[in-house]
Amino acid sequence: MRAIVCREFAPYTQLKVEEVADPVPAEGQVLVDVKAAGVNFPDILLVEGKYQMKPPLPFTPGGECAGVVAAVGEGVKGFKPGDRVIAAAMLNAFAEKVAVPAGQVAPMPAKMSFEEGAALITTYATTIHALKQRAELKAGEWLLVLGAGGGVGTAAVQIGKAMGAKVIAAARGADKLKTARDAGAGETLDYDSEDLKARVREITGGQGADVVYDPVGGAYSEAALRATGWGGRFLVIGFAAGDIPKIPLNLALLNSRDIRGVFWGAWAARNPKGNAANMAALFAMYEKGEIKPLISKAYALDDFASAFADMLARKVRGKAVLVTG
Ligand SMILES: NC(=O)c1ccc[n+]([C@@H]2O[C@H](COP(=O)([O-])OP(=O)(O)OC[C@H]3O[C@@H](n4cnc5c(N)ncnc54)[C@H](OP(=O)(O)O)[C@@H]3O)[C@@H](O)[C@H]2O)c1
Repeated sequence: MRAIVCREFAPYTQLKVEEVADPVPAEGQVLVDVKAAGVNFPDILLVEGKYQMKPPLPFTPGGECAGVVAAVGEGVKGFKPGDRVIAAAMLNAFAEKVAVPAGQVAPMPAKMSFEEGAALITTYATTIHALKQRAELKAGEWLLVLGAGGGVGTAAVQIGKAMGAKVIAAARGADKLKTARDAGAGETLDYDSEDLKARVREITGGQGADVVYDPVGGAYSEAALRATGWGGRFLVIGFAAGDIPKIPLNLALLNSRDIRGVFWGAWAARNPKGNAANMAALFAMYEKGEIKPLISKAYALDDFASAFADMLARKVRGKAVLVTG
């Protein structure tokens, strides 16, 4: 089969699609014929050696996919060849086939496309965990989402709205703001051309945001923290802008604010039952039409470098996916 192989931590342009041996499902594993795999910002960090976890080399990146069951290993119950599934593979999904523990595989709703299925896992699972368990977001609260036209950002707009929050989407440029509005944001602001704190205060009638969802970092974070009101909760999701901000701690003291870290993968490993309940809630939201992954573009596996380049150039609206075949 063909797979993207990372042989050294280096710029992603050095990755190659190679012919490698087909994986064989071990006991408890499901072998999935990958139809589509979701691209996430951490994939780029991972292959360049800039992520918090460094897999042993060589490895195949790709944390999530959707496809068809090709075979099952010994002891696997509940899956059979031909089933349409999504799989939280964690690694190895940028390939034509991947073997995944059965506990990380779930059947796909009948009306879900493979591209949507591949886009449903990391961004949505991160976000529901962030908004439910970490932010304890309540209906009627003001939720400010940074990077609101991107992968986790559009998921935050949709899930926040489904949880009853009033969503303010912040992003750069008219296209991204339209994407966020289409995802359900009631208010938008362009953080490149507008004063973030002043606009949030204006939109919220002087109160400030209750919760900030920040996957961007850089200079935006401090302005967004300052835009929260009394008892505001600031979620640290990621640093797509590159710089990890250094925040003056008096901002937490003033207004009795909380800064809360979010690390979905590590939380899910410690709380498989909680994560399964979150995934079930996501499927229910999908069935009700409350969430729907937005696919920016489907790229051929061989064209992975274009997907990564578009992500770094801030061109991806919603989610990029790689498709095989
Ligand atoms: N904590 C967790 O468990 C967890 C899980 C998944 C992802 N993450 C993190 O969340 C972040 C976003 O991931 P994603 O997959 O949603 O990525 P994405 O789709 O590329 O979204 C990131 C957004 O950041 C903004 N941005 C600002 N400056 C940027 C720059 N220099 N380069 C690229 N984007 C920039 C862009 O929006 P504008 O152009 O509108 O500014 C972009 O839409 C990453 O840092 C990732 O590591 C964290």
